[in-house]
Amino acid sequence: MPQYDAIILGAGAAGLMCAAIAGQRGRRVLLLDHASDVGKKILISGGGRCNFTNIHTAPDRYLSANPHFAKSALRRYTAQDFLDLVERHHIAWHEKTLGQLFCDGSARQIVDMLLDECARGQVEIRTGRSIGEVTHADGRFRVGKDEAPALVIATGGTSIPKMGATGFAYDFARRFGLKVVEPRPALVPLTLPPDQALFRELSGVSTNVVARAGKAAFPEAALFTHRGLSGPAILQVSSYWRHGEPIHIDFLPARTPGWLVETKRTRPRTTLRKALADTLPDRLAETLAEQLGLIAELANLADRKLDDAERRLAAWPFLPNGSEGFAKAEVTIGGISTADLSSQTMEARKVPGLYAIGEAVDVTGWLGGYNFQWAWASGWAAAQAL
Ligand code: FDA
Repeated sequence: MPQYDAIILGAGAAGLMCAAIAGQRGRRVLLLDHASDVGKKILISGGGRCNFTNIHTAPDRYLSANPHFAKSALRRYTAQDFLDLVERHHIAWHEKTLGQLFCDGSARQIVDMLLDECARGQVEIRTGRSIGEVTHADGRFRVGKDEAPALVIATGGTSIPKMGATGFAYDFARRFGLKVVEPRPALVPLTLPPDQALFRELSGVSTNVVARAGKAAFPEAALFTHRGLSGPAILQVSSYWRHGEPIHIDFLPARTPGWLVETKRTRPRTTLRKALADTLPDRLAETLAEQLGLIAELANLADRKLDDAERRLAAWPFLPNGSEGFAKAEVTIGGISTADLSSQTMEARKVPGLYAIGEAVDVTGWLGGYNFQWAWASGWAAAQAL
């Protein structure tokens, strides 16, 4: 029976990183994936250029039932560490916005880099075959004919099933007595009910807003779609949004309070629609003015009405009736409970030798390179312990 020091299930971002580092530490590593190729999500990420990390990575940009869990791994393997690796492989990169680092060329370079690192660690990689039966006895894990004292779950979350994503990690973890925080789609467009259909007619219109859900607020672009709302600001708040709760959009975040009454003084003959169109796309300005029922020239509107309008425009409520679901979600929130894992090593407390890393774990980052940074950092942390 072939013997390994560790078998890693899932050759995505976390699995590849973990395998490479463990291999380079002298461990005999077998990396298994049912997909035909490794790192498929890396290849499609960042519009094909892979937003591989974020220089503003910090634990408060991650959601988890235990907000402290990610601290140790993120501190020990930082965005700069990954950037150093990228530079050692002479991959050209740039910062796009908000600390988001992308390849100048193709995401393929990141996958090739990780494969190169795996080759340096003499990792054995097998793809295109289902994992089959996994058993555990006498402190050893058996996967088909292969055996090792350590097994790493790196099979990701359930977002984008058509790319090979499965709930394998959750079923497997439950089998070993680990708890799973209910998985739900995150970084996902939200859908609106028919009574907010007016906004759906704005499909394709995008504008810079501050979107809020609960205490979370994201100043980025929002996009109206034929089913509801999307764009980076909406994807970000979707991770904090709960069914039945509203989200609020500030359509004019750059305006100072009182600007509308001030506009009435300086341009009394203008309408609200025209005043809004100074900043917002025409169609959106028209829809908002109509919804507010303020069609007359500003001179004919009471200051109180204008102040009210300003307040509504700064916190416009939308009550989504759902999201586009796992089919469109960039990540899965929830997953294997951090309560059952060591934050130092990612090892299961109750099952020595069993590890879980990456998106399979209940740690979910903001949009913008944070999820890959968690995959690298958690993979690296586990590799130190294998
Ligand atoms: P990942 O999903 O990468 O890998 C899991 C692996 O396990 C896959 O290779 C899969 O085939 C395999 N697997 C699953 N079930 C299995 C089974 N039953 N048997 C065998 N193998 C199995 N993040 C970011 O930081 N920057 C970005 O630019 C983007 N962009 C982006 C775009 C899109 C469209 C999506 C869907 C996602 C992103 N993300 C992102 C999120 C990022 O891709 C994600 O968080 C990481 O890939 C997670 O890495 P993991 O290794 O944990 O899972």
